Amino acid sequence: MNDYKILVNGKMITKKEKLNITSPINSEIIGTVPALSKNDIDKIYRSSEIAFKEWSALEPKLRIKYIEDIKKNLIKMRDEISITMCIEISKPLKSCYQEFDRSIEYIDLTIKSYKDKFMNPKIIDKSIHNVEGKNGFFYRVPLGVVLAISPFNYPVNLSLAKIIPALILGNTVVFKPATQGSLVGSLISKAIYEANLPAGVFNIITGKGSEIGDYLIENNLISMISFTGGVDVGKNIANKKSMIPLVLELGGKDAAIVLKDANIVESAKEITKGTFDYSGQRCTAIKLVYLEKSIADKFIKEVSKNVLELSIGNPIDNPDITPMINQSAANWGKKLIDDAVKKGAKIITGGNMDNNLLFPTVLSEIKKNMLIFDEEQFAPIMPIVIYEDINEVVNSFNSSKYGLQGSIFSKNIKKAHELAKRLNTGTININKSSSRGPDIFPFLGIKDSGFGVQGIDWALESMSRIKGIIENN
Ligand code: G3H
Repeated sequence: MNDYKILVNGKMITKKEKLNITSPINSEIIGTVPALSKNDIDKIYRSSEIAFKEWSALEPKLRIKYIEDIKKNLIKMRDEISITMCIEISKPLKSCYQEFDRSIEYIDLTIKSYKDKFMNPKIIDKSIHNVEGKNGFFYRVPLGVVLAISPFNYPVNLSLAKIIPALILGNTVVFKPATQGSLVGSLISKAIYEANLPAGVFNIITGKGSEIGDYLIENNLISMISFTGGVDVGKNIANKKSMIPLVLELGGKDAAIVLKDANIVESAKEITKGTFDYSGQRCTAIKLVYLEKSIADKFIKEVSKNVLELSIGNPIDNPDITPMINQSAANWGKKLIDDAVKKGAKIITGGNMDNNLLFPTVLSEIKKNMLIFDEEQFAPIMPIVIYEDINEVVNSFNSSKYGLQGSIFSKNIKKAHELAKRLNTGTININKSSSRGPDIFPFLGIKDSGFGVQGIDWALESMSRIKGIIENN
């Protein structure tokens, strides 16, 4: 078992007080990280604040060089990071490698976007805009200390998607990985340490959420928070930090609407994947399926065939379904299944659990009085609502407390577009399940799904502000 060190104020440190990280695969302790105290956190924010002056004044091309070095170091650690992720969060190994590669591409795209759109000021003057007597230079400048809080389900991608844009712009970063994800976080900090950034530019905090969770977000030196995680924590952050920019990516209840002219085989395949990838533990997973009545039997038959073919096992062997992140996540899924069944839902397949392994479950005849109709399962469960009137579907969809994404399956693209315009959510996907990527797209949620926009250009925008310098002639 390894004692993982973390980067704090220019040094890789360890501490006597430690946090054990256990694997969801077998509950064994797979490593420890330092359990930082409130005092440690105070020092970290001070070091970030001090480092900001020098880092933000550095020539952009030098900051880019540091980012390139971080990328090189990460690439050298590709196997170590991917395998650690697989064991730490029980994600199929192949998906861990995909996440890693996606993140390297994210770095490249961020560097490109920064160079193309953020490094130079936007000029507003007479020549282009017919402004008399004034030449305006509008720069993008960093905000200060950015607090980046990442979730367990994307410990590399949703960490680097916050850290890299923040750093390249000239912000300093305090990074808090999810507890399950701290080992990967420590490895990311090692890659940054080996790139020799000035002390304090990047700091990582690991420790017990119950002791430092609130304290971490209360510090007055924080200039911006980018958070991905649960709705309750997101709301707590929003309540505590009212006068700084926030980007919050929270939950979702992304529904798929299958119209009667959909290609049944293709849509059943896509919806199976969209529901069960990483055992449904994605904010963009399909969490409710609306099925037109005349195609319901055929679709359910097709989907249950697909689900019965899903492999189950240890993530290192690349199955489709793996043990969930912890026991309480599996218990929550089971509770939603039991509640639905008690209220009349039909189990098409699955419904059982074995410790924290929840078997892939398809539930039909879901009604509004069942918890799973509204609540986010974040688990391998496909609840199906059979509908006759599309207007009722639109009303239900729009009355959800969430508003992240949704999807429509139909051969009639024009009709799908019209329906998409009536759905009140961040993004609608036609004939594809919901998803955040490609990362070049803007990604956002409304209502309880959060606010602020992610994606390459938008992350850079959200972590900087405009500074205008106007020459008056
Ligand atoms: O869990 C939330 C993630 O942002 C989802 O990302 O659509 O790439 O799986 P994804």
